[in-house]
Amino acid sequence: MPSTGPGEASSTGLGSLDRSGGRVEVSEKRMINGRADVNQLLPMKYTWAWDKYLAGCGNHWMPTEVSMQADIALWNSPGGLTEDERLMLKRNLGFFATAESLVANNIVLAVYRHLTNPECRQYLLRQSFEEAVHTHTFQYICESLGLDEGELFNMYREVPSIADKDAWALQYTQALEDPDFRTGTPEKDTQFLRDLIAFYVIFEGMWFYTGFAQILSLGRRNKMVGIAEQYQYILRDESIHLNFGIDTINQIKAENPHLWSAEFQAEVREMLTQACELEVAYGRSTMPRGLLGLNADLCAQYMHFITNRRCGQLGLAPVYPPVDNPFPWMSEVMDLGKEKNFFETRVIEYQTGGGLSWD
Ligand SMILES: [Fe+2]
Ligand SMILES: [Fe+2]
Repeated sequence: MPSTGPGEASSTGLGSLDRSGGRVEVSEKRMINGRADVNQLLPMKYTWAWDKYLAGCGNHWMPTEVSMQADIALWNSPGGLTEDERLMLKRNLGFFATAESLVANNIVLAVYRHLTNPECRQYLLRQSFEEAVHTHTFQYICESLGLDEGELFNMYREVPSIADKDAWALQYTQALEDPDFRTGTPEKDTQFLRDLIAFYVIFEGMWFYTGFAQILSLGRRNKMVGIAEQYQYILRDESIHLNFGIDTINQIKAENPHLWSAEFQAEVREMLTQACELEVAYGRSTMPRGLLGLNADLCAQYMHFITNRRCGQLGLAPVYPPVDNPFPWMSEVMDLGKEKNFFETRVIEYQTGGGLSWD
């Protein structure tokens, strides 16, 4: 065998070189607790992860390619935006400005260590860069509009509805922060699954969506079109992040069915319910009075719709009664297979990922 057993240091790729190790067989590859060499991409087993790496590369973009002139003019125009729209925009940016860093920290400092196959790690490296691009986007917006950077980048500690979400998610990373944490027992493997669910399904797959709907709704009314275009690209990236997370969790479940007990399934449904309630509260704090075509009640309905959808993707029964998607236009905005950008600010198409459904 090319490496030592589950839970031992060399499964991370940082152990000493085993010169006498046999060649890697596909059958030895595992999502977690793998015994195969984590440095050997080929032979490939998890082609779905590799395909997402290629799709992510195909979607490459940089925030500085998007013109901010119209946004700057509107932001500086006294009557350009209502006070409610300004509050929503600032709290929205305040959430994302640090959320991207929290997600990146979790990938690099927690998830990467414990996923023991190179196909998934290749995707994680691409995703890490994309999270850096997203953080760059909020730096660029902050600088372009001349926003108070101290206010924006401290909202995750100072605005209760944002801090409540971030504190809730961080409890799942804290468990993995212990330098002695190793997967390899049902308890620890479950702990790792909780982290994946909290960050991929909830943070990126639920908590970003109120924010996307808010900004894309502004963009549909021809307001802050540069930011809306950037959010459109972020949404495209995040949809693949979410799908990678769902596939990762479901593959770990398939390889380790003992982890997916009735008790743990009930716990996950409770996690999703709590997360939905935190997001509904965030919607109310960002839109206390509602905006044209958008208000906290509609966002709550949207979040119930999204929560049920995430349950289905994980193979769980829905937690809310069936509900319609109140923002069917979101799927139109997500359709980037067009010659021109939805907001028609300029044409940027490196290459579309294609073939992936993302919502
Ligand atoms: Fe991101
Ligand atoms: Fe992400």
